Amino acid sequence: MSGDVCLDLVVRNARIATGSDVFNADIGIANGVIVMLGAQLPRGAREIDAAGRWVLPGGVDAHCHLDQPTGDGSVMADDFASGTRSAACGGTTTVIPFACQQRGGTLQAAVDDYHRRAQALALIDYAFHLIVTDPTPDVLERELPALIARGYTSFKIYMTYDALKLNDRQILDLLAIARRERAMTMIHAENADCIAWLTERMLARGLTAPSYHALSRVPVVEREATHRAISLSEMLDTPVLIVHVSGREAIEQIQQAQWRGAPIYAETCPQYLFLTEDDLALEGFEGAKCICSPPPRDAANQDAVWRALDHGVFSVFSSDHAPFRFDGPHGKKAYGEQATFDKVPNGIPGLETRLALLFSEGVLAGRIDVNRFVEMTSTGPAKLYGLHPRKGTIAIGSDADLVIWDTFEPRPIRNADLHHNVDYTPYEGRLVRAWPGITISRGDAVWQRDTGFVADAPGRGQFLPCERPVALHRSRRERKTGGSVFPWLEALGM
Ligand code: URP
Ligand code: ZN
Ligand code: ZN
Repeated sequence: MSGDVCLDLVVRNARIATGSDVFNADIGIANGVIVMLGAQLPRGAREIDAAGRWVLPGGVDAHCHLDQPTGDGSVMADDFASGTRSAACGGTTTVIPFACQQRGGTLQAAVDDYHRRAQALALIDYAFHLIVTDPTPDVLERELPALIARGYTSFKIYMTYDALKLNDRQILDLLAIARRERAMTMIHAENADCIAWLTERMLARGLTAPSYHALSRVPVVEREATHRAISLSEMLDTPVLIVHVSGREAIEQIQQAQWRGAPIYAETCPQYLFLTEDDLALEGFEGAKCICSPPPRDAANQDAVWRALDHGVFSVFSSDHAPFRFDGPHGKKAYGEQATFDKVPNGIPGLETRLALLFSEGVLAGRIDVNRFVEMTSTGPAKLYGLHPRKGTIAIGSDADLVIWDTFEPRPIRNADLHHNVDYTPYEGRLVRAWPGITISRGDAVWQRDTGFVADAPGRGQFLPCERPVALHRSRRERKTGGSVFPWLEALGM
């Protein structure tokens, strides 16, 4: 070992888990990067003794909404300052929120605007997904390919929400571009017409309370759209990732597609493990706190999601943090306390609680192993969105983004202890047995639980251009099937 190396920080006696391995080592960090892993590393300018504690890669939250313009009078409570602060205190060191195209506007305008919102405020590193709402010929042929080439290699499309949704033909246009440019397409899979049909009839019968949100988006609505999204992906032989999968019916569609070798990836979120539709049926307007889409289901669906997590159906576990305050004019009550369920802004906060909930109820409760935890919360999203190996692992040359975990007797989550700008958490009072003790972002401790220290360094977070995640994008034809299985693509010269 060279005696010349000057280490800025050494994390000693770490019990390290990556997506595949568990081992004990010291971690030597210089200039924000891991430069040594081994026993008895030389002294660093700073030292942390992690003896007896898990040290895992910092979380990558690949689905969160921060300061995203909504266009319906609601306003997100978290900007990049409070959102990334909250993320860091919950063990996340990279976030990937969404630059959302306004209909009639360009993708570039959305990206420029989003950089302005992020740049001076982000505490931790960030990349952007795009949201495409208006796939004009110029967007398809010029803007989107140019942005993909510049590091915006994933985009989300919606099959629901009037202001965002695309029809199947528009989705096919986008999948064709994703195929050619090797980008990842994320799909919000719920059938808009089914939702509209159910909603209209419920409102006509006076069924307006928050609990009817769940009945307006029953599992078959998600199952049908998931099946359709998969079919469109298979037609173009290009990968898609189904976001925020809520339960058994959608899981079955995804699993069947994965079994036949289709390039289908999937994400789930804490709300589908830790909330149920009963949370939408709380007294008065309280249920609005848990309105999100797809909605939380029942206990049997929670079990199905746990099983699928363990069986490798999901590559990504994200928060889908969509922060609206409960009180005040711009959040859940934007249309008043008597608002019908369809007027309540969709989304719940969860950036800070994502990892502690899954570590406690998944790893410590023995439902998933620690490698699976790391895979879904960090390595998987980093790989799928082209940030690996800079992010998502503990390896020489990777950014020194680490979480040193504390474990303890069960303690309740309290919103008063969280760092987001939302006035509630749907997990109030829920017991956890672990929390990130120290979060390290590129070698800097940005959160320390024992003292409550949070780095006051808005703007230190760096923008991360994403690579194309090449390994995932070989088409089945390229995998030497000995004759095309996609004659229609061949006929089109694709
Ligand atoms: O209800 C949700 N999930 N709100 C956030 C927006 C989205 O569709 O992910
Ligand atoms: Zn969505
Ligand atoms: Zn979302």
